[in-house]
Amino acid sequence: MRIIHTIAELRSALAGQTRTAFVPTMGNLHEGHLSLVREAKKHGGPVVASIFVNRLQFLPHEDFDQYPRTLERDAELLRSVGCNFIFAPSEAELYPEAQAYKVAPPPALADLLEGEFRPGFFTGVCTVVMKLFQCVQPAVAVFGQKDYQQLKVITGMVRQFAMPIQVIGAPTVRAEDGLALSSRNGYLGAQERVEAVALSHALQHLASAARKPDQTLAQMEAAAADELRQRGWAPDYLTLRRRSDLMAPTDAQRCGAEPLVVLGAARLGSTRLIDNLEL
Ligand code: PAF
Repeated sequence: MRIIHTIAELRSALAGQTRTAFVPTMGNLHEGHLSLVREAKKHGGPVVASIFVNRLQFLPHEDFDQYPRTLERDAELLRSVGCNFIFAPSEAELYPEAQAYKVAPPPALADLLEGEFRPGFFTGVCTVVMKLFQCVQPAVAVFGQKDYQQLKVITGMVRQFAMPIQVIGAPTVRAEDGLALSSRNGYLGAQERVEAVALSHALQHLASAARKPDQTLAQMEAAAADELRQRGWAPDYLTLRRRSDLMAPTDAQRCGAEPLVVLGAARLGSTRLIDNLEL
C-alpha cells in the first residue's frame, strides 16, 4: 500500500487504470469505513481511499479543528483490508487557492434535513467530492448509507454531470448494541456511549408506527423527538421521508407501498449523531 500526498503523484500512480475503486473519507477510520473498502475490493481494480478533513463542509462553530487526524492508525487499518493507495493531500495541495468554484446541489434536496441544520454542508461535500473524483478518476465510488442524504446528493451530482462513475451505497455498520458506527462516536463519554443507541431506538419506534393510519405524521414525529428529549437529547429532526426525494410522504403513500426511510439527527451533550432506517 502506498501513501500519496500530491495530485501529481496520484495521477502517475494510477495512469492507465480503468477500474479504480474509490472510498473517500475524512480519516479517523472505523469498521464502517473498512466495510466500504471491502466493497470497493470486489470491483477488481486498485482501491484508493482518500483521507482529507474538508474545511468547506464545516460551519465555523463545528468540529473542524477538533476532528481527529489519525493517519498512522488509519493506514494500518487500510493496509489490513487490502487497500492499495491512500490519497492524503494537505489543505495546500487540494485547495492551493481559495476554492471559488463550487458545486451547488439543488436546494430541494440539499437544503432540507442535514442542509437545514448545516447550511452549505452539501456544497462543501459536493465540491470536495467532485475535486477528489477529478484526482482519482475512479470507475466506482463507495459511500456509506449511514450518510443517507449525502449518498443521494452525490448520486445526483454524478448523474447530472454525466460522470462515468458507478456510485455504490454500502450498508451501515452497527456496534453490537445497534449504534451506527461513526467517527464522531469517539467524542462520547462512557455514559453517553451507552445512551447513544437511543437514537436508533427512536427511529425504530418511528418506523414501526409509520405505516399505521391512527396517528398523523406530525404526531408520530413529535413523539419520536419527545422520546429523545425526555432522555436528555436535543433532537434536530426525526422524520419519515420518501426514499426517492426525501420529501414527506402523503398519507396514502405512508399507509401504502411507497418506499420510505426514517432519518434522525440529534445532539447528545456536545456530540451530534445521525442515523437512518429504510422501511
Ligand atoms: O462522508 C464523509 O466522510 C465526507 O463527507 C466525504 C464524503 C469524505 C467528503 O469530505
